[in-house]
Amino acid sequence: MAFLRATAFFSLAVSVLSTPISSPLSTPAPDAAIVKRATSCTFSGSKGAASASASQKSCATIVLSNVAVPSGTTLDLSNLNSDTHVIFEGKTTWGYKEWEGPLLQIKGSGIKVSGATGATLNPDGARWWDGEGSNGGKTKPKFFYAHSLTGSSSITNLHIFNTPVQAVSIDGCEGLTITGMTIDNSAGDSQGGHNTDGLDIGESSDVTITGAKVYNQDDCVAVNSGTDITFTSGLCSGGHGLSIGSVGGRDDNTVSRVTFSSSTVTKSTNGIRIKATAGDTGTIGGVTYSGITLSSISAYGILIEQNYDDGDLHGSPGTGIPITGLTVKNVSGGGAVASSAYNVAIVCGAGACSGWKWSGVTVTGGKKYGSCQNVPNPPGSC
Ligand SMILES: *[C@@H]1O[C@H](CO)[C@@H](O)[C@H](O)[C@H]1NC(C)=O
Repeated sequence: MAFLRATAFFSLAVSVLSTPISSPLSTPAPDAAIVKRATSCTFSGSKGAASASASQKSCATIVLSNVAVPSGTTLDLSNLNSDTHVIFEGKTTWGYKEWEGPLLQIKGSGIKVSGATGATLNPDGARWWDGEGSNGGKTKPKFFYAHSLTGSSSITNLHIFNTPVQAVSIDGCEGLTITGMTIDNSAGDSQGGHNTDGLDIGESSDVTITGAKVYNQDDCVAVNSGTDITFTSGLCSGGHGLSIGSVGGRDDNTVSRVTFSSSTVTKSTNGIRIKATAGDTGTIGGVTYSGITLSSISAYGILIEQNYDDGDLHGSPGTGIPITGLTVKNVSGGGAVASSAYNVAIVCGAGACSGWKWSGVTVTGGKKYGSCQNVPNPPGSC
């Protein structure tokens, strides 16, 4: 009987649809804990972000319905109870201001974030785009800090458009699944989008990203540090490709067991890129690229370098960040590389690349890179 009563309370979700609202309504009940777990709160309009932040501990489900986040503020859900469900509905928009951001931040354990059918998150980044990205010009807010999401958290079906600069930063996460995310900054191709990284990953473990579509003007995915990271069934268009690093000179310089599989990279400067900085220490171990299809690559089909220095292939390679146990297999890029570009460039320090597997790699159309160094066998040469 007690169980049935609890079940009844559970289905008694409270929906709050007023604008503005200051706190979610909740039904008075004998057992506050049950009501708290059962409460669904809906926030909308220009007060929705502040109300959601203020009420985040009181709601088991937070519906953000057509929220208009005021300029210079973060839609901040970084103090959620464990197992909270956050649902974006309709259009989420942000006001304009030059500042660092982030525009959105979500943190917690067992958090489920999802986009309802047709929902969009659109900070209208064109207002900041000036071709300079994070190197100058307007100060541009970072978009989404998905930081410290742990304990089987998930982000499902988020459709993000036109970020001012970097889109999604994954940091300090342990146990996060991202499924069906779209990051579409394609408008930035002609309107000055720059440094619009899709997914930057650092200091995280057990992160799986499935079915992401990224249209942008910088790294599609960049793993700077972390363990057991998988990116699969993805599409990267317009950017810098599937990247490890740059590794070196950060707080954490360990990359271990990262897999990129069954993905397409098109209209991009690089297909695959591993960047280790010369003169720093760290490790890049157990990285796998498998089942990668390349097309329309304008600089390097495959670029693996231990002489990254604020730019590709600068100076002498270092040996402080060995690249070991790398697997590159089934990479299909026949005719994919522009005739003025390079198919494969590998620059390693002496003995600093070892234990590689390399099979079924066809990357052609461009030139042979003439300055490869210390290439392990396989592949044996560039
Ligand atoms: C190679 O990769 C492609 C694209 O992901 C995939 O369709 C194909 O099955 C793979 N082939 C093998 C032999 O693994």
